[in-house]
Amino acid sequence: MKKLTFAMCVLLAGSPWVYAESATTEAATGDVEQGKTKSAVCASCHGMDGNTPIAPIYPKIAGQHAKYSTSQLAKFKDGSRNEPTMASQAVGLSEQDMLDLSAYYASLPGSEGAATEASVEAGQKLYLGGNMATNVSACAACHGPRGHGNPGAAYPAISGQNAGYTLQQLKNFKMQTRGTNANATIMNDIAARMTEEEMQTIADYIAGLH
Ligand code: HEC
Ligand code: HEC
Repeated sequence: MKKLTFAMCVLLAGSPWVYAESATTEAATGDVEQGKTKSAVCASCHGMDGNTPIAPIYPKIAGQHAKYSTSQLAKFKDGSRNEPTMASQAVGLSEQDMLDLSAYYASLPGSEGAATEASVEAGQKLYLGGNMATNVSACAACHGPRGHGNPGAAYPAISGQNAGYTLQQLKNFKMQTRGTNANATIMNDIAARMTEEEMQTIADYIAGLH
């Protein structure tokens, strides 16, 4: 199914149909109030509002689609997203904990960031059109024209994210150190074709998308 989703996305990249692709079965849902109670430990790194992480390299997690966050917590736990800090956080979480926490963070509004002046022109070009010469896909095809992602397909919202975190993730994808699960492979292939300069530019640009 994940392979099919990827194939469809490639076929439909650039077409508006891709945004409507959400034909996945409705999963179990989380409880926002339960999630709030369980989130006390998360606040120490991600901030009370999920938008003010203690280091620029840590992500904002407020406003993220619940399905994506749930999938990432499961991947941290089983090691298919390779990151020791979050692995130790996720190891004790049950499936229901992951659903509740993700529902809670999805219910909080994501905060806006700011793009650097220098990144706007080149960043927008790459974001909306990709790089035809080197076969880098347009980010908008999957993450949406404003970076809001695709909840049905578990494609994350990326707008307003800390540039330091986005840049680090793109590097991880390129080096294939984030993981080799099916969804990470999509990004591994795209980042492999990006230059360091393109990664920096797009990370700065995405911080200002909203
Ligand atoms: C000790 C600090 C720390 C704590 C506590 C912590 N996190 Fe994290 N979290 C991180 C770091 C660092 C990352 C980035 C990991 C990476 O680079 O791949 C992260 C990433 C995430 C992501 C992935 C974000 C994305 O956009 O892909 C989610 C979801 C998440 N954390 C949820 C939680 C939840 C829920 C809790 C509480 C149960 C929690 N975190 C507690 C440090 C922490
Ligand atoms: C074919 C669809 C597709 C395209 C095109 C695409 N992405 Fe992604 N992106 C994904 C998927 C799927 C994930 C989730 C990966 C995972 O689960 O590990 C992702 C994850 C990411 C993340 C990690 C977000 C987080 O919170 O950790 C970043 C950053 C990102 N993409 C940036 C980009 C940029 C920049 C471009 C354009 C150069 C781009 N993507 C193009 C599908 C795509």
